[in-house]
Amino acid sequence: MAVVTIVGAGVIGISWARLFSEAGWEVRVSDPRPDLKEVVARELVGVPVTATDDLAAAATRADFVQEAGPERIEIKEQMFATLAAHTRDDVVLASSSSSLLPSAIAQRNPAAERIVIGHPFNPPELMPLVEVVPGPQTSARTVDRAVEVYRELDKLPIRLKKEIPGFVGNRLQKVFNDQAFYLVQQGVIDVKDLDDLVRASLGLRYATIGPFESGVLGGGPEGMRHLASHVGSQMTFEIGKSDPARMGEVFDAVEHAYGTGGSAYERLAALRDGRTRAALKPLGWPEPAAVDGEDE
Ligand SMILES: NC(=O)c1ccc[n+]([C@@H]2O[C@H](COP(=O)([O-])OP(=O)(O)OC[C@H]3O[C@@H](n4cnc5c(N)ncnc54)[C@H](O)[C@@H]3O)[C@@H](O)[C@H]2O)c1
Repeated sequence: MAVVTIVGAGVIGISWARLFSEAGWEVRVSDPRPDLKEVVARELVGVPVTATDDLAAAATRADFVQEAGPERIEIKEQMFATLAAHTRDDVVLASSSSSLLPSAIAQRNPAAERIVIGHPFNPPELMPLVEVVPGPQTSARTVDRAVEVYRELDKLPIRLKKEIPGFVGNRLQKVFNDQAFYLVQQGVIDVKDLDDLVRASLGLRYATIGPFESGVLGGGPEGMRHLASHVGSQMTFEIGKSDPARMGEVFDAVEHAYGTGGSAYERLAALRDGRTRAALKPLGWPEPAAVDGEDE
């Protein structure tokens, strides 16, 4: 049985653990948190898993590593130094990082050619996408193997041609979120209404077609050029930017709308997971395996 070592038993690591286990991998989880055994017992019910605070020991028999530790470059550098020293030289070391450059994580690392970003969307066990981002030192073999593993997990791996901070998904999300914060700060709309507006429009649209395809269709038979010269020509307004000094107001409004703490988290996560599971199959996920090169 192939062995995956998951580094970090937080939100993302636990979800990766379920996913790899369901796909038939032997799962080892490493995390220094003192409550590791309790977290594993609570979150990974029925999942056979070895859990330890000893990263070197957890990495030793790995065939693939999926790192999901803290989003801090100095910690990632340290974790990847240990991983490089305790894994075979054919083992891919993939980081779940949301925005850090693979070249930064691989700096000074003797296994730089094996380091790649495998960035999921939360929760990885449900969201189809994994962004595969190579740094300049990442080998083609590493990228190919990462893509192969994510396909085995029924994910849609998309390779970026080169690294850029935030990759693609989070760059788009950053622009989108900033405008949402701005609209709330300006008193244009409440938090819940904005969420409903997105679910009922852009969210549903982008679950079926992407923004470029939407541009083609929005222009009718004359396509995106027509949309740009017609509706698009009037969209010349400035959109503004959120005020970082006023983010407290946004957080207050979000907490007022949705609550905080364990029970609010569990309720919201269950709602999201139920809706996502229900939508995946009708929307065609998982997609049938593409012929190599077709989806890049
Ligand atoms: N939360 C998200 O929505 C999301 C989505 C995609 C990717 N990511 C990325 O996934 C990674 C993990 O994020 P998260 O949200 O699960 O964080 P998290 O804070 O929930 O979990 C991080 C875990 O790492 C552990 N840890 C600390 N030091 C460690 C070490 N030296 N070795 C091993 N584990 C260690 C912590 O104890 C904690 O359990 C980050 O790089 C993040 O950018 C997060």
